[in-house]
Amino acid sequence: MDVNKLKSKRTPYYLYDLELLDDTLKCMNEEKSKYKNFTIHYAIKANANPMILNIIKNNGLGIDCVSGGELKECLKAGFKGNSIVFAGVAKSDEEIELGIDNDIFSFNVESIPELKVINEIAGNKSKKANICLRINPDVDAHTHANITTGLAENKFGLSKDKIEEWIAIAQSMENVIFKGLHFHIGSQILDMEPFKNLCLEINGILEKLEKAGINIKIINVGGGLGIDYNNPNENPIPNFKEYFSTFGTHLKLHDDQQLHFELGRALVGQCGSLITKTLYVKETSHKKFVMVDAGMTELIRPALYDAFHKVENISKNGNIRLCDKQTPSVSLSTYDIVGPICESSDVFVKNYDMSETNRGDILAIRSAGAYGEVMASCYNCRPLPFSYSLDNLS
Ligand code: LLP
Repeated sequence: MDVNKLKSKRTPYYLYDLELLDDTLKCMNEEKSKYKNFTIHYAIKANANPMILNIIKNNGLGIDCVSGGELKECLKAGFKGNSIVFAGVAKSDEEIELGIDNDIFSFNVESIPELKVINEIAGNKSKKANICLRINPDVDAHTHANITTGLAENKFGLSKDKIEEWIAIAQSMENVIFKGLHFHIGSQILDMEPFKNLCLEINGILEKLEKAGINIKIINVGGGLGIDYNNPNENPIPNFKEYFSTFGTHLKLHDDQQLHFELGRALVGQCGSLITKTLYVKETSHKKFVMVDAGMTELIRPALYDAFHKVENISKNGNIRLCDKQTPSVSLSTYDIVGPICESSDVFVKNYDMSETNRGDILAIRSAGAYGEVMASCYNCRPLPFSYSLDNLS
């Protein structure tokens, strides 16, 4: 990549490698196709950029959304209602109406009061709403506390010990069709053990329900597969084979049971970089700071989750199409890379070895395709970042 091309756009901005996205989706689809009853919904909360949605749609995925806004974005992008699942811990009446009007595949319902409202709104429209019940499986995802969702103490889902009662309530309602169960234990999970534990937990639930004469047709296990933030160049595509085979091996499903997934980060995380320019290099008695024009307003993950994102000096290393090998001829220095926002937490990375950096150098903050652009804010009255694809950057 010619660094002048990167410099031709006003920084900071998101840059997407759509070829990598397509390769990632093809690899995922190939692994998934080994299991005849697996269906994938893309968790649009990870990235709702129309360029990204278009490629996801062309690769035949459905959608998982958590708000009316997301629902509108995926309808606008051309996804069909019957490929959409709608989770979200507290859906508003307007959001429920929108889902019912578009005959979505299922509402993933998180409480009985919410179920009652869905039943009532569907009734007012003389329609029936498809629903799955979101069950909190109380499985530890062993990930950052801010992105753990499947513990009993979390706000998500219905408790697993009264599951028969919840199903009976749903089945007694006139305007909802009970289709199955939904689970999601957390995000950025690289160890397969928590997913295996989720499978074992689900097996127990299904067995208990079968004994009570209840056969569940749809099981949705959410998302959560992580990416390699440390090595985006060596490891750009997650291990879908291991992930799917964990469920294929440990979950005991009958032929008439469908397994649904809601993957976000694993699909889009590695294809995005945040491109930023070095404004100043400042040296104090303690540290050398590289001060860039992007901040927590464009990428909040380091401030919010202590997340690590690799940073590359493109002006020195010349290439962001996945081959940044710091050449020995480039001398390294240790920096804190920080943004311009008036917050101490506006730090991308501390004590980081990077090529000697000067004012004007272009840096790429890698693995920012998931939960980057969508979480950008206008704090400090900053404008939202633009986005480009690697191929149409001219
Ligand atoms: N399904 C449900 C019900 C979810 O809540 C989520 C993510 C997903 C699927 C997709 O999870 P994924 O496959 O992307 O791990 N902003 C945080 C991540 C929050 C995840 C919220 N829920 C971050 O930047 O790490």
